[in-house]
Amino acid sequence: MNEQNACVIGMQWGDEGKGKIIDLLSKDFDVVVRTQGGSNAGHTVVVGGEKFVLHLVPSGILRDAATCVVGNGVVVDPEQLLNEIEELNGRGIRIAGKLLVSDRAHAVMPYHKALDAAKENALGDKKIGTTLRGIGPAYGDKIARSGLRLGDVIDQDVCQAKLEQNVPFVNKILENVYGTEPVDLAEILDWARRMGEELRPLVGDTVSFLHEATAAGKTILFEGAQGSLLDADFGTYPFNTSSNSTVGGMVTGSGLPPKQIGRVVGILKAYTTRVGSGPFPTELEEEIGALLRANGNEFGATTGRPRRCGWFDAVAARYSTKINGTDEFAITKLDVLDGINPLKICVAYEIDGQRTETFPGQIDKLAAAKPIYEEIAGWDGSSTSDESASGLCPAAEAYIARISSLAGAPATIISVGSDRDQTLTR
Ligand code: GDP
Ligand code: IMO
Ligand code: MG
Repeated sequence: MNEQNACVIGMQWGDEGKGKIIDLLSKDFDVVVRTQGGSNAGHTVVVGGEKFVLHLVPSGILRDAATCVVGNGVVVDPEQLLNEIEELNGRGIRIAGKLLVSDRAHAVMPYHKALDAAKENALGDKKIGTTLRGIGPAYGDKIARSGLRLGDVIDQDVCQAKLEQNVPFVNKILENVYGTEPVDLAEILDWARRMGEELRPLVGDTVSFLHEATAAGKTILFEGAQGSLLDADFGTYPFNTSSNSTVGGMVTGSGLPPKQIGRVVGILKAYTTRVGSGPFPTELEEEIGALLRANGNEFGATTGRPRRCGWFDAVAARYSTKINGTDEFAITKLDVLDGINPLKICVAYEIDGQRTETFPGQIDKLAAAKPIYEEIAGWDGSSTSDESASGLCPAAEAYIARISSLAGAPATIISVGSDRDQTLTR
């Protein structure tokens, strides 16, 4: 294993605070690489009170020294990427020479977003609750071998030929299956031509770049998006995203071998949230759920949707630790629990009258799971007041010790606020 590299992976259903932790860690890395997902991600970084929300650009971009890579496993909405770069430039963040995007990454086309919306609409109350960013259809085309990679988009002839083949087919689906408006081929050709021109300077062979960086002894931080419970294989299928958001996606999404992944830093929110549909055993619909949402400002960074909130689920966290081989945790948003006393931790599920500590593979079993809770003392003031040598009050320290032990790895970073500085390391 390359001990100097590391990866950051969400251990729950996304929005664990990966952006904050990636920004924090990236000061010690030469390269930060995103490997999967697309603009469904919303990674928030707060520096000195100034807030940045990143969707496609890696969260290492705020560090001058880090080179950021959008790897082959990401699905890139060209327009979103260009808008994000323009916004960052406008805020004084240097991009030129610091961002490389894979020629193998698939493009999210306007018709992918149309298909995403049409399918969700058709599913009615069975919808997944996607971010409507075209993620599922773009990955679908990739696997079905009918996608356009960015290397195709920047080559006008290839791009035109592929779109002329794809768009009539997509329109048959839009019109005849979903009964919605078709997309306009001429408009898409024109859009793709413009995108190709603007993207060309950023697009290149990231696989060679990453291998050369590794050979030169440069350090690499892998940036996960979404969370392990949204993984296409290990998540709460079908209420998940369309990529591998667990550690395997970092290998296939970068072109670097497993031994380069380095230490696995799992991000755990001190409680649980989920946005979109699907079972969520520890969800709290009443008072405490609302309190967590208000105190934690739990509204989606991409869609603005209110996040569903609940107690910490150690069954789910332990499962994610196993799948990813998590070495250590960064536990975020501990401050949000200030004043909630007592706290509860889900230590097992009861499914069909049986106690289990295993996260079920079938969605109906998870939907039937009743959480078995252990109560633990909360703290009345701030988690960082009345502090011991560790920087936390004794009850907060005990809570961290209990959830990390149940989840199966030590906590090395504890976050008690959104700003870069509001962090304890051990
Ligand atoms: P990501 O998708 O995993 O990067 O997480 P998001 O950015 O979508 O959501 C995390 C939210 O929590 C953001 O608004 C962060 O600014 C905020 N945040 C991160 N860490 C902390 C923390 O320790 N305390 C509080 N109160 N907010 C935090
Ligand atoms: P970050 O990286 C939280 C969820 C959606 C939906 C499901 C499928 O910010 O943690 P998709 O648009 O991917 O087809 O939606 O996955 N989802 C996320 N939830 N954080 C994310 O990213 C998410 N990306 C997708 O809400 O339930
Ligand atoms: Mg997010």
